Amino acid sequence: MGSSSGGGGIIGINGVGSGGGTKKKYTTFRSRQRANLSFFLVVMFFAVFGIIVFTEVFFIDERNAGTGSGVLIRHAGYQHGYRKGQEYDENEDYISIRMGLGGGAMMNDETLGALLLGGGGGVPPAVAAARANPPLPLLLDTLPLNSKDLIETQLPPYPDNSTLTEGSWQNVNGTKYKFFVFSAFFDQRRKGQRIIRVIGATKTRGPERVWCRLWYKIGDGNSTAHISVTVPAKVWAIRENWNLKYSACFATCALPANRTTIPSTVSVVAHPRDPPGNLLVVHNGNNETHTPPPGYKFGVCVKPLHFDYNREIQMLEFLELNRLLGVEHFTFYNHTIGPQVSCILRDYETNGMVRLLPWRLNMVSQKEIRTEGLFAALNDCMYRSMYKFTHVALIDLDEYIVPRYNYTLPQLVEHLDRRGNLHSAGALSFQNAFFYLQWSDDESLHSESDSVAASLVTVRKTRRRAKLHPHKQRSKYICRPEVAVEAGNHFVWELLPGYQTKNVHADQAILHHYRVCEFGGDDCIKTTSVVDRTAYRYKIALTEAVRSQYERLKSKCHLSELKLPKNQGLSKFFKLLQTR
Ligand SMILES: *[C@@H]1O[C@H](CO)[C@@H](O)[C@H](O)[C@H]1NC(C)=O
Ligand SMILES: *[C@@H]1O[C@H](CO)[C@@H](O)[C@H](O)[C@H]1NC(C)=O
Ligand SMILES: *[C@@H]1O[C@H](CO)[C@@H](O)[C@H](O)[C@H]1NC(C)=O
Ligand SMILES: *[C@@H]1O[C@H](CO)[C@@H](O)[C@H](O)[C@H]1NC(C)=O
Ligand SMILES: *[C@@H]1O[C@H](CO)[C@@H](O)[C@H](O)[C@H]1NC(C)=O
Ligand SMILES: *[C@@H]1O[C@H](CO)[C@@H](O)[C@H](O)[C@H]1NC(C)=O
Ligand SMILES: *[C@@H]1O[C@H](CO)[C@@H](O)[C@H](O)[C@H]1NC(C)=O
Repeated sequence: MGSSSGGGGIIGINGVGSGGGTKKKYTTFRSRQRANLSFFLVVMFFAVFGIIVFTEVFFIDERNAGTGSGVLIRHAGYQHGYRKGQEYDENEDYISIRMGLGGGAMMNDETLGALLLGGGGGVPPAVAAARANPPLPLLLDTLPLNSKDLIETQLPPYPDNSTLTEGSWQNVNGTKYKFFVFSAFFDQRRKGQRIIRVIGATKTRGPERVWCRLWYKIGDGNSTAHISVTVPAKVWAIRENWNLKYSACFATCALPANRTTIPSTVSVVAHPRDPPGNLLVVHNGNNETHTPPPGYKFGVCVKPLHFDYNREIQMLEFLELNRLLGVEHFTFYNHTIGPQVSCILRDYETNGMVRLLPWRLNMVSQKEIRTEGLFAALNDCMYRSMYKFTHVALIDLDEYIVPRYNYTLPQLVEHLDRRGNLHSAGALSFQNAFFYLQWSDDESLHSESDSVAASLVTVRKTRRRAKLHPHKQRSKYICRPEVAVEAGNHFVWELLPGYQTKNVHADQAILHHYRVCEFGGDDCIKTTSVVDRTAYRYKIALTEAVRSQYERLKSKCHLSELKLPKNQGLSKFFKLLQTR
């Protein structure tokens, strides 16, 4: 059949130019037929491809829910669970980064992820399955309810019998997936925006729609009543979610423009006609003036304490060394704490130095949500500190931000500000230095006879990895909560427009991180190391501070006896023998 046109199709038309009457007509007809066929094939190809992409997009959600497999960049370093005695071991060198799309967009992350990554190598589910399970997201926007249709007086009344809380996990009744709320904050820092920002935890992808019942207090001292304004909430997962099913989230509700007052409390409900099952105090910091307290005021935020955390001396050292470093206040979250540390924290709480918030979140840590929902705690602490503290450090109990030349953190910040102008700095980042606990104690410990000093990790461990981690990898930061929007573990995800994170040079200060090898085993101690005794500047003052707290609380809190290190006791014994 091979006609003289050779290549056929479109090219053929020109190729046979000189051919006679009927032959030319015939060839043209054939070519057109072929062209049509090719066109048809191309269309078919795209149609089939389109169906595959479509089913991918809507089924990823279901697969995620079932298996936790994801389409986004998967963190490689994370291993399941913890090894005993390594509470703070987190192999988090790689994190899954949720791509910010702005809240409320119907095209959610997995949609974007699927489009970008072509389904992440997942097996495309059969088209038949698509028909059997019509995709859910399409139904979400067809809710008949509109806030304008709501007649507030016909909605359930103020939940007098709900526990009014300014920070504890409460359930949102009636949602399909778990949805909890912890605290609420008034936020008017962005121009033209007045919102209530609720910190909660819910499904990472495609969170359910919820509403805010904003409660405005009316009446005089004798009789108060609450009238409500009910508005839809925008919900989005906090970006650091490790691709687990649930994550910490923000739910934000815009305040009605025609009311100048701020609601005193808020309930988050799955449907406006549901009786509210939670009632949160609306935190409303220094809303009038926005002037930060004069000078510097430093606070510390610590992620939830877990595994019956009960290291008495570590806790005392953490509190007292940070006080020497100029920290005035500590916020902790109580997942589970052992009896001695509970007693210590209660005591510091009565002095106003510590705030301990309950943290009973009904989600399985590491399976459903990252480490007890720590990102909800970090963000709660940041918003809670706003207008109360000029700076907060978000650090763990085995970490200290230690300045090299200055004694305190406020002095360091002041110095950096004078030198480099930190006006637009919303956060300061400090590079991580591991002081592996497997390295032997500082030489001075051989002759140390003070059991308090010999119990302090910053005195014992002075050898550190020579190479520091770069910023953003295991680094920690001090931020100005007034200009921060979304806190992460190692860096701030979002600051108000016009503010940036400034990296502090390692010469000025680094993060001392006292722990065992991060990947298990003892191999890490073979890395190049240096002796860094910067923390010895605090040794005498710290020893005395811890001693006085220890002695004050010893019997009250049933603190255990302090011992000298083992080899130390032995050498003392030999010395004793020699002198006899
Ligand atoms: C709270 O009180 C209302 C009536 O005031 C009642 O209908 C509702 O069941 C109560 N809820 C709980 C949890 O007790
Ligand atoms: C409060 O109630 C008392 C009586 O119960 C009344 O005498 C008083 O005037 C009321 N105060 C106000 C501010 O309404
Ligand atoms: C505010 O506006 C809404 C309509 O958008 C109206 O129903 C409501 O009564 C107004 N409230 C006040 C206090 O004016
Ligand atoms: C909310 O749900 C809890 C159970 O999760 C139930 O005990 C409580 O009564 C419910 N509250 C309301 C107001 O329906
Ligand atoms: C600030 O909060 C107080 C109550 O704490 C309230 O009376 C006042 O109206 C608020 N002002 C602004 C500007 O939001
Ligand atoms: C910590 O939480 C547990 C469980 O809710 C509670 O029993 C304990 O009293 C709390 N500890 C402190 C110090 O508040
Ligand atoms: C902080 O350290 C710098 C040197 O880095 C020094 O010039 C400055 O005087 C120190 N500030 C205080 C208050 O000690």
